[in-house]
Amino acid sequence: MPKILILNGPNLNLLGTREPEIYGHDTLTDIEATSVQHGKTIGMLIDFRQSNSEGELIDWIQGAAGAADGIIINPAAYTHTSVAILDALKQVDCPIIELHLSNIFSREPFRHHSYVSPVANGLICGFGAHGYLLALDAISRLVSDKEEC
Ligand code: DQA
Repeated sequence: MPKILILNGPNLNLLGTREPEIYGHDTLTDIEATSVQHGKTIGMLIDFRQSNSEGELIDWIQGAAGAADGIIINPAAYTHTSVAILDALKQVDCPIIELHLSNIFSREPFRHHSYVSPVANGLICGFGAHGYLLALDAISRLVSDKEEC
């Protein structure tokens, strides 16, 4: 069964109470549960993680080599700042989907630039928690004819 690493960046542990008018009312635990369930339905094993630390996210990306078949990443604020996450993702050979709950292009101008987009196969944003399921559907197509990272 393909293994999908879902990585979540800083402050996403606060989902549910963090700006719910932007990010919705689902907690990250809710999103993990629906992602794992959807993974079962479409035949993918989900490894779901969150960190507030840039270095830890980078260690997880590096650790995906040979261990994951695809990466879905919501880098949160690091999307707009992290050359280090971009460089780590460049070393990954499996499909990568960039994901955001909110539509970053309808928000402040500093959110319009992403360091991750150039290395992502695709970008899903603006669909709230449902975006995680859309990303899983999208990555399952991409991994079907690919080797591990
Ligand atoms: C986010 C969008 C980012 O701009 C923001 O810093 C986040 C969450 C999203 O999921 O909409 O923390 O990645």
